[in-house]
Amino acid sequence: MGNDQTRDAKRKTIIAGNWKMNKTVSEAGALARSIVEGLAAEPKGEALPEIVLCPTFVCLAEVLNQVKGSPCKVGAQNMDYRDSGAFTGEIAPPMLAAMQVQYVLIGHSERRQFFGETNDSVNLKVKAALAHGLVPVMCVGELLEQREAGQTDDVVRQQVVAGLAEISAEQIAQAGGAKVVIAYEPVWAIGTGKNCESPEANRVCGLIRGIIEEFYSGKNIASSVSILYGGSVKASTIDEQMQQEHIDGALVGGASLKAEDFLPLIKGGAKRLKSFSHA
Ligand code: PGA
Repeated sequence: MGNDQTRDAKRKTIIAGNWKMNKTVSEAGALARSIVEGLAAEPKGEALPEIVLCPTFVCLAEVLNQVKGSPCKVGAQNMDYRDSGAFTGEIAPPMLAAMQVQYVLIGHSERRQFFGETNDSVNLKVKAALAHGLVPVMCVGELLEQREAGQTDDVVRQQVVAGLAEISAEQIAQAGGAKVVIAYEPVWAIGTGKNCESPEANRVCGLIRGIIEEFYSGKNIASSVSILYGGSVKASTIDEQMQQEHIDGALVGGASLKAEDFLPLIKGGAKRLKSFSHA
């Protein structure tokens, strides 16, 4: 196994489903159940990627219940950064942690676009997630007009640097890997069916890894941070995406809402893992 592959294998391959504002409690429970059943029907002994299901807050308890004893983990789609208080309508990190939620999406582009999320609020939330033992999946990505103006790299750099501000290597690192996941999601590719070409997605994910390397120089963090691609990921694109050096998994919206669409993506992640063991 070459050095690069040793580094790749060190970080988790993650396939995460962002269910967004979809599914009632019973529908979410049924979807989680069919994913679990689909996984159980697969041949035993095959290494699986980390699978993370992110339903709405009201469905978290039901989905946690349905995935008990299965390889699936559960994530929230957002949270406040404060612990408690007079913040009507918000959900606090300790509430998620107490439920055994393990992941939380932070700064998804829809939160940035429609709910006033900024690089500063993203930073506060990433810090809060780490403080409560939740793994933040920090989402970054450029708008179409930023890409067309040649600003992609600058925008992504700003988002990564601001999002990780004042977070130490010690806060991020843990035995066996990093506690922060980054998702590169070009906004123009989300929910549009327009996929960012794999080599370009890989280039930006590599850029992100380079930024983390600079940020935590000499701390051995960058090679263990999983960097996911998101934006119209589907069964027909996953294999090529999972062959890229810097794409460690996928954050999936539309294709995570049906088990028959999502299970092939998990298989795509499993193939990436297999390629390490055969390297
Ligand atoms: P999409 O959404 O897969 O429907 O493009 C991805 C996301 O928003 O995380």
